[in-house]
Amino acid sequence: MPRKMFVIFGASNILCMVFTISQAFKIETFPENKIVAQIGDVVSLTCRTTGCEPPSFSWRTHLDSPLNGQVRNEGSNSTLTMDPVGFRNEYSYLCTAICGSEKREKGIQVEIYSFPKDPEIRLSGPLEVGKPVTVTCLVPDVYPFDRLEMNLLKGNHLLQNKDFVEPMERKSLETKSLEVTFTPTNEDIGKALVCQAKLHIDEIDFKPKERETTKKLQVYISPKNTVISVNPSTRLQEGGSVTMTCSSEGLPAPQIFWNKKLDNGNLQLLSGNSTLTLIAMRTEDSGIYVCEGVNQVGKNGKEVELIVQEKPFTVEISPGPQIVAQIGDSVVLTCGVTGCESPSFTWRTQVDSPLSGKVKTEGSKSTLTLSPVGFENEHSYLCTVTCGRKKVEKGIKVDLYSFPRDPEIEMSGLPVNGNPVTVSCRVPNVYPSDRLEIELLKGESIIGNKNFLENIDKKYLETESLDMTFIPTTEDTGTVLVCLAKLHIDEMEFEPKQRQSTQTLYVNVAPRDTTILVSPSSILEEGSSVNMTCSSNGLPAPKILWSRQLNNGHLQPLSENSTLTLTSTKMEDSGVYVCEGINQAGIDRKEVELIIQVAPKDIQLTAFPSESVKEGDTVIISCTCGNVPKTWIILKKKAETGDTVLQSRDGAYTIHKVQLEDAGVYECESKNEVGLQLRSLTLDVKGRGNYQDYFSPELLVLYCSSSLIIPAIGMIIYFARRANMKGSYSLVEAQKSKV
Ligand SMILES: *[C@@H]1O[C@H](CO)[C@@H](O)[C@H](O)[C@H]1NC(C)=O
Ligand SMILES: *[C@@H]1O[C@H](CO)[C@@H](O)[C@H](O)[C@H]1NC(C)=O
Ligand SMILES: *[C@@H]1O[C@H](CO)[C@@H](O)[C@H](O)[C@H]1NC(C)=O
Ligand SMILES: *[C@@H]1O[C@H](CO)[C@@H](O)[C@H](O)[C@H]1NC(C)=O
Repeated sequence: MPRKMFVIFGASNILCMVFTISQAFKIETFPENKIVAQIGDVVSLTCRTTGCEPPSFSWRTHLDSPLNGQVRNEGSNSTLTMDPVGFRNEYSYLCTAICGSEKREKGIQVEIYSFPKDPEIRLSGPLEVGKPVTVTCLVPDVYPFDRLEMNLLKGNHLLQNKDFVEPMERKSLETKSLEVTFTPTNEDIGKALVCQAKLHIDEIDFKPKERETTKKLQVYISPKNTVISVNPSTRLQEGGSVTMTCSSEGLPAPQIFWNKKLDNGNLQLLSGNSTLTLIAMRTEDSGIYVCEGVNQVGKNGKEVELIVQEKPFTVEISPGPQIVAQIGDSVVLTCGVTGCESPSFTWRTQVDSPLSGKVKTEGSKSTLTLSPVGFENEHSYLCTVTCGRKKVEKGIKVDLYSFPRDPEIEMSGLPVNGNPVTVSCRVPNVYPSDRLEIELLKGESIIGNKNFLENIDKKYLETESLDMTFIPTTEDTGTVLVCLAKLHIDEMEFEPKQRQSTQTLYVNVAPRDTTILVSPSSILEEGSSVNMTCSSNGLPAPKILWSRQLNNGHLQPLSENSTLTLTSTKMEDSGVYVCEGINQAGIDRKEVELIIQVAPKDIQLTAFPSESVKEGDTVIISCTCGNVPKTWIILKKKAETGDTVLQSRDGAYTIHKVQLEDAGVYECESKNEVGLQLRSLTLDVKGRGNYQDYFSPELLVLYCSSSLIIPAIGMIIYFARRANMKGSYSLVEAQKSKV
């Protein structure tokens, strides 16, 4: 290293000259000729004489500048004290002692320096691995600093060296420094920073010329990898406890803090312990817990969320969230609680309508009985259970339907072949009827179908029906009429959703083709027997009813046998006989006229006023014929020349002003198909004055003696009459029946 030469004044030459003057008179100085002093010290220069008592002393600098010190003379000693020594004392001091005429002088060189303290190591911040840091090493109050050398070492490694050789403008104490920036690594942990300062002044003697400061590297690691372990779980039940342990890595080992995050985001300190145990947790203790690892260089946090669940307090409503009930049934809703000591129950409907049911509460169970269940119960029912400050509500919906009976099949009447009939299928007491479908089937084929969608929102039981009209035929007998009712409610569970009724068809046929067979004939002689047999077709087989038609038109029932037998008939049995074929489907009738023939009898022939009259009288000859109907009456006047048929009216012939020639035999002939009867009388006419009676005795004998019955031959006349009668008898049939 370059050295600057210290300036030393030539005091020794002067001393040699003084020394020659007197040997006895001597001067000494302490220190002898040079003193090295650190600025600020107290420095004393002493000048001492021998061989003179007492000498006079004087001090001066070689440049005659002020002494900057205090002189104290004491006998042969003179002391110059510089307190403190400073730049203004950096001179050569000359002590002059005069003893009489003798004068002695001696100089002392005062040399100064300043190197009072060890270097100081300063760091720009804490040492963190990976984070650049600036190290400053400074040496305060150095003089002369142009001789200063500084070294900064990390362990054995020299980071930097510096000489401060710049020229000194003026004398001053200066603080010199060295700055190095480096990035600490993990290897630096445990090493030391060394700052060395050397003041290179070889030519003067002082200590220390070297100073050094060692600073152990304190390397920090910011907290990281903060980990929380939770035991048993972050989900807790009310009243439970949890232990959470947190660890964090860092250098120095981070301190652990547990906090709870408040709603406003602030942290509330819970513990400075790494293990946090929370007991008797409540639901409001739920939340976010934060663990922080903190050391000098930083902090690292980790959050964990704790969820404190309420104690299981459960409410069950049965049977399920929905119940489907048929109107009229009895329904029991049960609300049960678990996990509560003394629950209190409340029932209500969602729309706050009356409960319309009976509540019974016992312990942890409450029942609501709806019996019978009706439209007023078609609600959602809510069961509210209060347990302490907790409240739980459960609901159950009551859905109603009504479909209690199978359909009823009804016919408008008896099914008769060919006649329209209406089948009605009735489904009683249905709800909701808008979901109803009725289907009517005849055998395999659907003959009618109806939906009742229009009845929306009506809340009452309805009886719905489907009417179908069809014309049955005999082939339909045996086929089955099916009435099928379906309640389309898929969303409800109940059985049955379908009901059906059947009816087997039996088609009737009204009686027809009713025929009557008369044996032997419908025209009979009195006393004979007759069988009248009636038959009729129909389904079911018609019942036969024989009746007789009375004069007033009414029917008099006679027999329900198909054959009506009349034995030994009388004339009164004549008349119209009616046969009726009867079944459920109708009546068919047929009639026959029975004629019982009787020969004329009990004819009476009379003359009015008498059979013996006078000429000029009026006489009525009248013939009445018993009670035998259909009898011809012929009134005649017999004469030898031939009979004269008289124009009678109802069997009566009136002779006005009778003449003599009107006397004679009159005959009445009554006849029908079965016979004839004759009656005769003799009219006697007396002349005015003495006329002889006019009569013929022979004839009188002949006719009055007998009444004859003559077999019938007047059949033509009879049949002509029959043709005019009402009824269906034909001539042919009539003849047949006679065979
Ligand atoms: C002078 O100085 C010397 C040495 O320091 C000392 O021993 C002596 O006593 C001093 N004399 C007087 C009179 O102070
Ligand atoms: C931390 O908790 C443990 C275990 O509970 C205990 O022994 C220790 O004293 C606690 N330390 C502090 C600082 O609270
Ligand atoms: C009427 O029927 C009965 C029984 O069949 C029979 O004995 C009788 O001879 C029948 N009479 C006539 C007049 O046909
Ligand atoms: C019907 O006929 C039965 C026998 O064939 C007979 O016993 C019964 O008397 C008859 N009834 C009438 C009302 O003629």
